[in-house]
Amino acid sequence: MSADPHTRSVAPAWLQRPAQANGLAPAVWPETAERGADGVLELGGIRATTLRERFGTPLYVVDEDEVRRTARRTLEAFRAAAALHGAQARVYYAGKAFLTTEVVRWVTEEGLAVDVCSGGELAVALAAGADPSRLGFHGNNKSVAELERAVEVGIGSIVIDSLIEIERLAAIVARRGVTQAVLLRVNSGVHAETHDFLATAHEDQKFGFTLQDAPAAVARIRELAGLEFIGLHCHIGSQIFGTAGFEESASRLVELHAELREGGELPVLNLGGGFGIAYTSVDDPTPIEALAVGIAEAVARQCEVRGIPMPNLAFEPGRAIVGRGGVTLYEVGTIKPVALDSGDTRLYVSVDGGMSDNARPALYGAEFSARIASRTSDAAPALARVVGKHCESGDIVVDAEYLPGDVAPGDLLAVPATGAYCFSLSSNYNYVPRPPVVALRGGEARVIVRGETIDDLLARDAGLTAGGVLAGASGDSPTEGKPRMPVLSERSETK
Ligand SMILES: Cc1ncc(COP(=O)(O)O)c(C=O)c1O
Repeated sequence: MSADPHTRSVAPAWLQRPAQANGLAPAVWPETAERGADGVLELGGIRATTLRERFGTPLYVVDEDEVRRTARRTLEAFRAAAALHGAQARVYYAGKAFLTTEVVRWVTEEGLAVDVCSGGELAVALAAGADPSRLGFHGNNKSVAELERAVEVGIGSIVIDSLIEIERLAAIVARRGVTQAVLLRVNSGVHAETHDFLATAHEDQKFGFTLQDAPAAVARIRELAGLEFIGLHCHIGSQIFGTAGFEESASRLVELHAELREGGELPVLNLGGGFGIAYTSVDDPTPIEALAVGIAEAVARQCEVRGIPMPNLAFEPGRAIVGRGGVTLYEVGTIKPVALDSGDTRLYVSVDGGMSDNARPALYGAEFSARIASRTSDAAPALARVVGKHCESGDIVVDAEYLPGDVAPGDLLAVPATGAYCFSLSSNYNYVPRPPVVALRGGEARVIVRGETIDDLLARDAGLTAGGVLAGASGDSPTEGKPRMPVLSERSETK
């Protein structure tokens, strides 16, 4: 997809005009999504219109039952695939996809470990009560303070990403007199795009070590008494549909794994995440069971060729666990038919959120789909682009979708498959408050992250402290050192 909305073709080749634009493509929506007798979208047994009345829009909705089910299924798939070769598998939920204390509890209760990649994510996992020994810590530039904290709490493993980090961590564990289990992140040279993969000999990116440089890094780790080297780690990309890229990467890693075994045991091989989900009706990701079997088989084959035992496997799915469970609800604000040079008309449907709650289209050109949630319609489908309310022409939520031609202000619009990398990439661009997150379970809805208020938006603004530009705006006398916030509730704002 081109970055400039004005140069894109009218409708992408994959997007077929439906007879009516009401249907819910099964793989894209949570399993419980259906239309009620009056056409209103229901999620987890709750009407989307009820969710709007209770929580407002925009609203992140996440089907907890779906996330838990997917977490269980994924764990079971990898365990079963590893067991076929006499090995075990651990599944770390990649917290970067969507992390709140509730989500940590859901996935850990379902048996998953958790991978974090910053001190903040670590804090959320710990606040949720996660067992530190079942946490992994990633990142190409973990600070000394972040590493200190991780070691202090007894984190299960740290994935080392650079030579500098080896020395940093060694100094910390030596000072504390502890031993820390570590893996080494390696670039296998395999880059996976959704449908294809590309294998290269040289890497030009910030993460990890090349296959050539890894042995020297491992040798250095092994010299350091406080670091226990437990295995290699690799992550080839995201939103990957087939097994070929994973299999190629696994083969390359096993070669290095075998070489490194000459210097000591390597009980673990972590092959990262990246398993794709359906965002549109034409996306057809490989079921996780087939992926798991294919990857485990590739590792087993290579181990057999080299005459070495099969290591235990670890995986780090993020999107595949939470993506499909999420749906974002928006209210349609304005609608603008725009005549194009081609003679076609595109309907610009503006919603009350946008790139601040879903940065993926602007960041990656990601595709999404949409449906009117508050009703069905017999109107002929019109080619629409769902856009946000931000001051950017690239503020696109759904680049191309057929919506009923009578889509109107006030309609409730649902965008499915927003469970991963939407909340976690959200921002306050244009000072738009971030939406609440509501979880659905057993026919009940509850807030798991409250929505931001205007007060929240002003809370960090040092200009509001005594003596600042706005001091005195509320008529109070300044109090030294005390922040003075105008108290604006969302309600009073909209009056
Ligand atoms: C090291 C690592 N592991 C796991 C993941 C999760 O990827 P996904 O959500 O595509 O499964 C990522 C994503 O960036 C990653 O960088």
